[in-house]
Amino acid sequence: MKENMTKPAGQILVIFGASGDLTKRKLLPSLFELFDREALPEHFVILGVARTPYSDEEFRLQQRENLFLFLKGKRPEEQRVDAFLKKVYYLGFNSDEAGEYHYLAEKLQALRSAHDVPDQVIFYLATPPQKYGLIAEALGKSKLNKPQQKQEGWRRIIVEKPFGSSLETAQALNRKLCSIFDEEDIYRIDHFLGKETVQNILVLRFANQIFESLWNRNYIDSVEIYAAEKLGVENRGKYYEGAGALRDMIQNHLMQLMGFVAMEAPSSFEANLMRDEVAKVFRALHPLSLNDVIRGQYVAGSVGNEWLPGYREEKGVAPDSTTETYIAMRFFIDNWRWGGVPFYFYTGKRLRESRSEIIIHFKNVPHRLFNGICPHASCNELILKVDAPESISLKFGLKIPGSFFEVKQVSMNFAYDSLCNTYIANAYERLLLDAMQGDSTLYTRTDALELSWRFIDPILKEWAKEPSKGLVFYPAGSDGPEERKWLLHYSL
Ligand SMILES: NC(=O)c1ccc[n+]([C@@H]2O[C@H](COP(=O)([O-])OP(=O)(O)OC[C@H]3O[C@@H](n4cnc5c(N)ncnc54)[C@H](OP(=O)(O)O)[C@@H]3O)[C@@H](O)[C@H]2O)c1
Repeated sequence: MKENMTKPAGQILVIFGASGDLTKRKLLPSLFELFDREALPEHFVILGVARTPYSDEEFRLQQRENLFLFLKGKRPEEQRVDAFLKKVYYLGFNSDEAGEYHYLAEKLQALRSAHDVPDQVIFYLATPPQKYGLIAEALGKSKLNKPQQKQEGWRRIIVEKPFGSSLETAQALNRKLCSIFDEEDIYRIDHFLGKETVQNILVLRFANQIFESLWNRNYIDSVEIYAAEKLGVENRGKYYEGAGALRDMIQNHLMQLMGFVAMEAPSSFEANLMRDEVAKVFRALHPLSLNDVIRGQYVAGSVGNEWLPGYREEKGVAPDSTTETYIAMRFFIDNWRWGGVPFYFYTGKRLRESRSEIIIHFKNVPHRLFNGICPHASCNELILKVDAPESISLKFGLKIPGSFFEVKQVSMNFAYDSLCNTYIANAYERLLLDAMQGDSTLYTRTDALELSWRFIDPILKEWAKEPSKGLVFYPAGSDGPEERKWLLHYSL
């Protein structure tokens, strides 16, 4: 537990979709880590709910195995795991049926009494996304959305991605949630924002004059944001068919990263002030045209000796699917800080390497005195590596030793894992703890969410009219379609 961190107040965390993948791979391991660091409240209970019938003991046994499997790089002490699992309960009921929520009400009441927990409950929605509205509605109908006595407790709801599949569906879900819970109690999770390096974008920018003074159109040439994955769709083909890279990665994760890179400094680090600034950036986005977006799909290819199937051969994917597994896009932010600076997003599956990073390319010097090679127009780049092992690199030109004044790009690197003795929490740990403490700074607010949908929705609508038009292909294991390079060569 960090010394400057106070523990959240006693509460119950109800996880809908507790028999699913997210619960076993991310939520329970993260909650165990919090428990192990003594960051959880003393009076705290986790109640998993789903339709599959398990007793508390069966669920615990299953999750015990999962914890040993999914706690990455760590063999937890058995006693600690067992102590943690004493806080875990399960309720099998059909969350699609509003009439069954009395079971949930009764179980919550019983757990509160048994563990002396105040009337403070978080509902975490980790079911198929089509069920989010239905569950919220049922919570409202059964009056579980409010504490039993006004002023003596609270309710919060955490909603997993995807939040809608278009502007209209996101707005409809927002309207529904906001009619049942107060906006300040709705936590739309984007796990990218829980990453230490992502939060550090703000610290790097706003705690360091040397960066922030250069952070504008006068000194920055372009900004690239990458989220490239070596993996294909794995066993999520069915889900991915209805999503595609634009919805799955751009609308949420990359937009949020861009918001942190491009926002103005808030007057204080308070959730709503921060989120105001992100929303202002989204409001200033120049509308996209079809030419700004290259969409690709992977075909079979090989990496080394391994043959990798094409997207259309993956389980759950239609043989004539036009779903995009790759996006390269260029866009502009119409404001004083960023006018004319191109921003690029690159994201895709089955690429040559996994890579999540932000590259700030600075402009070149006004007059070149020296010969030499830098990979881009200028030697100066700042690279923020968002995935593990997280790092920050500053690139600049230096003289090649012994040569006449010839320039070479060199790098000054900071690696997070060099901060030994400092525990780096994973994204879900950080975000779960924030929600338990009522801090929504790193969660997405309604306006930013709808603005990000508004930005990409026209493109989705155009693609829906002619699904195969403009779809290009790239071999699995490559750097993506060659057509991505077009974006660098045409002007507004
Ligand atoms: N897995 C990840 O890494 C990941 C990452 C980011 C976001 N998410 C999001 O998190 C949510 C859950 O993902 P997941 O991968 O855990 O999914 P999953 O493995 O399919 O689990 C879905 C869960 O929902 C329950 N459920 C309740 N009502 C259901 C219904 N009517 N139909 C089907 N299932 C129902 C299922 O249990 P019962 O069948 O027992 O009811 C199960 O526990 C999804 O919205 C997903 O997009 C997942």
